[in-house]
Amino acid sequence: MKVTVVGAGAVGASCAEYIALKNFTSEVVLVDIKEGFAEGKAMDLMQCASLNGFDTKITGTTGDYSKTAGSKVAVITSGIPRKPGMTREELIGINAGIVKDVTANLVKHSPDVIIIVVSNPMDTMAYLVHKTSGLPKERIIGMGGALDSARFKYRLAEALDCPISDVDGMVLAAHSDTGMLPLTSKATRNGVAVSEFLSAEKLVEVEEATKVGGATLTKLLGTSAWYAPGAAVSVLVQSIVCDQKKMIPCSVMLDGEYGESNICVGVPCIIGKNGIEKIINISLTDSEKEKFATAAKAVRDVNGDLGF
Ligand code: NAI
Repeated sequence: MKVTVVGAGAVGASCAEYIALKNFTSEVVLVDIKEGFAEGKAMDLMQCASLNGFDTKITGTTGDYSKTAGSKVAVITSGIPRKPGMTREELIGINAGIVKDVTANLVKHSPDVIIIVVSNPMDTMAYLVHKTSGLPKERIIGMGGALDSARFKYRLAEALDCPISDVDGMVLAAHSDTGMLPLTSKATRNGVAVSEFLSAEKLVEVEEATKVGGATLTKLLGTSAWYAPGAAVSVLVQSIVCDQKKMIPCSVMLDGEYGESNICVGVPCIIGKNGIEKIINISLTDSEKEKFATAAKAVRDVNGDLGF
């Protein structure tokens, strides 16, 4: 099965690497606008194949979308990342044009494609893909919750001083510093509510550290992160390609779910060979409902800048 990754930068190359390492698909095509860049990244990654033991074929192209024809999944990572001190929302001016163009090229050559949107501001870019691609809503998935939930689990395990595999938790709502909703009420350690182990103050600290997880890394790295984003994308792609039907929080077009419509924000979804196979409605506390609505309103305001 063919998987295309547009943008061979930090995040795109990391996506291609993790997808290849997991060896579940036959081909990955990397696309970039920078002359020779995707070809170079593909060659470098292919020279890992015998060392790391994968058979996935990775190729690169400078903007020739005919090479992406027949892709089952396409991941859009093209665009600029934020610099320290910037919000994801500040990227909209440049990234909207790039994402719109890339989407048109992908759909032209792969009309049955499932698109995973990564470029920021991600919830708004997913909405843009809905408004411009003509694809059914089941085939447009925004990647944010998978990464933010992994960051939440990292912070929970740190606070609990326990292995990460012992904790579970999800982050819903917006992929933004203020709009993320880590569900502390439902987070568990081996099935036991984390509130049994952590004080209310500590839980607020975990929540806050999770919400600024991306900004913390941007400050340290001088640009946004790439390992965990690439790994998060690979989990989504594998759930589609292998029809695993994993439940993963994704930014999807809502039609009344969680009290919202005509907006993409993060909710728990079953991801399988058809893309979003089901949106799962879980019960939220009154405070979580209020935070979800506030986050959705902020995303709607940013969507307004697209002019639809
Ligand atoms: P990067 O600058 O390393 O790579 C972006 C690549 O896109 C560059 O190689 C550039 O040449 C390419 N590009 C630009 N315009 C293009 C076009 N029209 N067609 C094809 N390629 C094009 O940036 P990085 O760090 O890889 O980040 C990419 C995007 O992903 C950013 O918008 C960033 O904010 C976002 N991001 C989203 C995350 C999420 O959880 N949704 C997590 C991390 C980053």
